[in-house]
Amino acid sequence: MDPVIEGRGSRYTADELRRQVEALGPWFHDIDLGEGVRTAPNHPLGNFLEEIWAHVGRYLPEDLTGSTVLDIGCNAGFYSQQLRRRGANVLGIDHDERYLSQARFAAEVNGLDIEYRLMDTYDVDRLQQRFDYVLFMGVFYHLRYPLYALDKVAKLVGRRLVFQSMVRGVGGTVPVPDDAPITERAMFEHPCFPAMYFIEKRYAGDPTNWWVPNEAGMEAMLRSAGLRIVAHPFTELWICEPAKTTSSSEAPVRRGARSGPRPIG
Ligand SMILES: C[S@@+](CC[C@H](N)C(=O)[O-])C[C@H]1O[C@@H](n2cnc3c(N)ncnc32)[C@H](O)[C@@H]1O
Repeated sequence: MDPVIEGRGSRYTADELRRQVEALGPWFHDIDLGEGVRTAPNHPLGNFLEEIWAHVGRYLPEDLTGSTVLDIGCNAGFYSQQLRRRGANVLGIDHDERYLSQARFAAEVNGLDIEYRLMDTYDVDRLQQRFDYVLFMGVFYHLRYPLYALDKVAKLVGRRLVFQSMVRGVGGTVPVPDDAPITERAMFEHPCFPAMYFIEKRYAGDPTNWWVPNEAGMEAMLRSAGLRIVAHPFTELWICEPAKTTSSSEAPVRRGARSGPRPIG
């Protein structure tokens, strides 16, 4: 089903498309522009966007007509385009004007009406509105102050948050008590205790990879931000909903007031 019939605005020849792609590159998102032209056909991660979208798409309605979507860290807009094709009114934000130029060009070529805005994740509260669906994918670990951002993002979620983060360390979760005496040390040694690794220098050559959580740590932070995890389709992807209806001024869910793993003993 494809509720949007904006279609391709094919006013470019293949040569013109190739020249523009080259001028706006390098691209992280591989987007099909038609005429046999793609933006990053030799991406080292291969077809990863299509693979992730195959999971994400299952957790969002096929017909999003009338729904609002916020795509945080939209990059060149691969996901924004998929959601617009389902009929959503999409706002994509990114703090990098170069990626936004790519996004605007790719949307124009594909004839999709998407709004793109230069905005930092830390400023999303300035939007002062909730969105039915929020995508917060591939951004969390690039933030020096990730929980500061996550708390703000969580408050914008009307229906569902699609969240993706790099995770490392041992997978799985372990029950953590609501409280423990200060003499308790052993629980911190469990490889599945909620944790986040701090990258002082670089990881994968990227100095903006600041924090990498383990799976339990990521889930604990999502819950602590006031979200309920409704699905975890694969290691790095979570589908969340607001844990309860909150007013936009309400503080994040506090420790002890949230649902979480059953405590030991
Ligand atoms: C790894 S890419 C992920 C792109 C896309 N969301 C995805 O999942 O494929 C990270 C994107 O987040 C953007 N970004 C990183 N830090 C940001 C911040 N503080 N505010 C807004 N965008 C940010 C980058 O410019 C980049 O486009």
